[in-house]
Amino acid sequence: MTDSVTARFHVYPNERAAARALARHVSDAIQVKPDLVLGLPTGRTPVGFYHELSGMVDHGRCSFRSVRTFNLDEFLGIPPTHPGSYRRFMEAHLFNRVDLPASQINFLNGDARDPEAECERYEQAIAQAGGLDVQILGIGTNGHIGFNEPGPRLEARTHLVTLKLESRRSNAALFGGQLDRVPTEALSMGMATILQAESLILLAHGESKAGCIAAVVHGPLTTELPASFLQLHHDVDLILDTGAASALTSEAQTVQR
Ligand code: F6R
Repeated sequence: MTDSVTARFHVYPNERAAARALARHVSDAIQVKPDLVLGLPTGRTPVGFYHELSGMVDHGRCSFRSVRTFNLDEFLGIPPTHPGSYRRFMEAHLFNRVDLPASQINFLNGDARDPEAECERYEQAIAQAGGLDVQILGIGTNGHIGFNEPGPRLEARTHLVTLKLESRRSNAALFGGQLDRVPTEALSMGMATILQAESLILLAHGESKAGCIAAVVHGPLTTELPASFLQLHHDVDLILDTGAASALTSEAQTVQR
């Protein structure tokens, strides 16, 4: 991606500055297009960003009144009201803190009787919304995006995933630290669904992400590192702290003040 003219690097001194920058970026996008179609991730990474964004709404600097959201993924086999669900996570960190009407929140239903039909419904809902304008992404240390895990092949569209032990472990905190309570399956947008968004913004912080960020940027395109497919997109921003940027070429590490 360093050779690409379209990927933009934004490196900040710390996690908070990166979260603020992303919140400003999203708020600007909402100003330009109040009915923005916004794709959202869960995980530890976006918590500060959601905090900054809800602060901006509190201070009247941004409004979600007309925004429509689509989350990347959800566990299968638990209802949206389950305390470990991604839906509940989003309610706690963003949805209940901003003026986003519930009818404009789109989520994969982990309780769906027919997971394949649910995936199809989600794809159609994204298409009916006119496609994703901005998709915010986090990244796993193994290069996963959403629940698109490394392996010999990737699924293009929203699909049912059998979770890797590593992913279940990293989500155990949502289930009281008990691995056996973490669902074994999930539903996730596919790589093509993600790549069809008008623009992508990847947020990462901490040195634990440095190796995979460098591989995503400097390495080959491979299903063994799903995020490497971001190299195919024409409009990607990487918002990083110095830790996550620490394995990039020195040119890409220029810190924003
Ligand atoms: C979840 C998602 C995942 C996370 C990734 C990183 O919706 O999209 O790909 O972004 O697992 O998680 P954290 O932020 O906890 O390091």
